[in-house]
Amino acid sequence: MTEFRLSMPNLAARKRDGERLVMLTCYDALFAGLLDAAGVDLLLVGDSLNEVLAGRSSTLSATLDQMIYHGASVVRGTSRVPVVVDLPFLSYQVSVVEAIRNAGRVLAETGCQAVKLEGGRTMAPTVEALVARGIPVIGHLGLTPQHINRFGGYRVQGRSVPDGDRLLEDALALEAAGASAVVLELVPRQLAARITTALGIPTIGIGAGSACDGQVLVLHDMLGLNEGFNPTFLRRYAELGPAVRDAVSRYADEVRRGDFPGDQHGFD
Ligand code: KIV
Repeated sequence: MTEFRLSMPNLAARKRDGERLVMLTCYDALFAGLLDAAGVDLLLVGDSLNEVLAGRSSTLSATLDQMIYHGASVVRGTSRVPVVVDLPFLSYQVSVVEAIRNAGRVLAETGCQAVKLEGGRTMAPTVEALVARGIPVIGHLGLTPQHINRFGGYRVQGRSVPDGDRLLEDALALEAAGASAVVLELVPRQLAARITTALGIPTIGIGAGSACDGQVLVLHDMLGLNEGFNPTFLRRYAELGPAVRDAVSRYADEVRRGDFPGDQHGFD
């Protein structure tokens, strides 16, 4: 492992240098190697894996063991890119002590460089405690999927002036607590710009406009593997859904016709 991989990069310095951060979700070693080679700045083992891989309707039932299994797989598949692992629902909200124990397990058992957690001022003491114990933290504000039952749907957050002010205060509290960066999800672009200007640490947007210091997307969405999912904020960079269906139906046809395997695919 290189020295670079042993530490979380200084993201605030990257912001000062005007570098925009490229983050993608990743859940397995094979994709991790491809994304590392493509030069992504940060990989996020998001608890969205509970929806994307496990077919659940929310992130709420993702477990710590699930996150550790996928986090370790992603770290094993990479040699350069820093890896951030989401702390799942109820692994950090019950008490600061539990948060330290669980985040510490994630860091130690996966070899990742940071954890991500949802929430603002309420979570600031937890962020401070984790950072003080050597566990770098990325915050997550706006539409925080672990609060979906409070929001009642995947809606843009912070549209009113008081709500926007509260989000800004949350972001400042996370920065003061020592967070390395803040993900802003489904936030109006002007509010995201205001928060980005106010913070010394980078904001990483998803559905938060172009003023953020970086962007994150769910890999399977941007590769077109999740065909029914077409939110406003998504741009697809490939159409792998149709490509997979086409490849599988050609394979099925060839097996059924007896064209595969051919002579060259066997052994003497
Ligand atoms: O779990 C996840 O994939 C996330 C991103 C959408 C930011 O938190």
